[in-house]
Amino acid sequence: MEQQVLPLLEAAGIDCELVRNKQRRLIFDSTTQPYEFILAKGPDVTTFLERGAADVGIVGSDILVEHQSTQYELLDLGVGECQFVLASTPDFDPQAPQRKIIGTKYPLITKRYFDRLGQDVEIIKIEGSVELAPLTGLADAIVDITETGTTLRENNLQIYDYLQPVSTRLVVNRLALKQQQTAIYDLVDRLAAVVAPKESAK
Ligand code: PRP
Repeated sequence: MEQQVLPLLEAAGIDCELVRNKQRRLIFDSTTQPYEFILAKGPDVTTFLERGAADVGIVGSDILVEHQSTQYELLDLGVGECQFVLASTPDFDPQAPQRKIIGTKYPLITKRYFDRLGQDVEIIKIEGSVELAPLTGLADAIVDITETGTTLRENNLQIYDYLQPVSTRLVVNRLALKQQQTAIYDLVDRLAAVVAPKESAK
């Protein structure tokens, strides 16, 4: 995500040189602009926002939905676009009557999907490389995100259903938006100006 978002921030006039030369540093105070950059893992971004440790976050909508984020989502950055899918080995039968075991990093999204289908499933939470679950017999199928489809293909897994699209969003802490409205809307407007042409070209 960092690789896709930095060019956008730079196009919006935000100096990201410190982040580009970051090495192992995780936090940077801009010398030229009123921003401090924090590099956090996606699942932690909502925590930083909700606890007020960051004012603005850039994070995938997969995480916002799974974490039931209550912060303000102000902009779809139109990058990091991927899909939630139900996938498994070629012999998987989605219509089979037995109670299925589903491996996923996203238990809430998975539960909602199967609830909509009226199916009671067992969900196993997996932290990474979810594709291993059906390949090892740990689960009957997985719910995961796919971008290029390469990981599924290279592991002989196929897609059985598409759940919902995912993209990168700009999210704002509610209190920060009240207290620093001008600065935050200035940032959002600048980003919207570089995101919008791409959106309208679709
Ligand atoms: C995601 C997802 C797949 C992979 C799919 O993992 O869980 O494993 O990307 O991408 P593709 O369709 O382009 O092959 P991620 O790279 O986020 O790593 P993780 O498993 O450590 O979360």
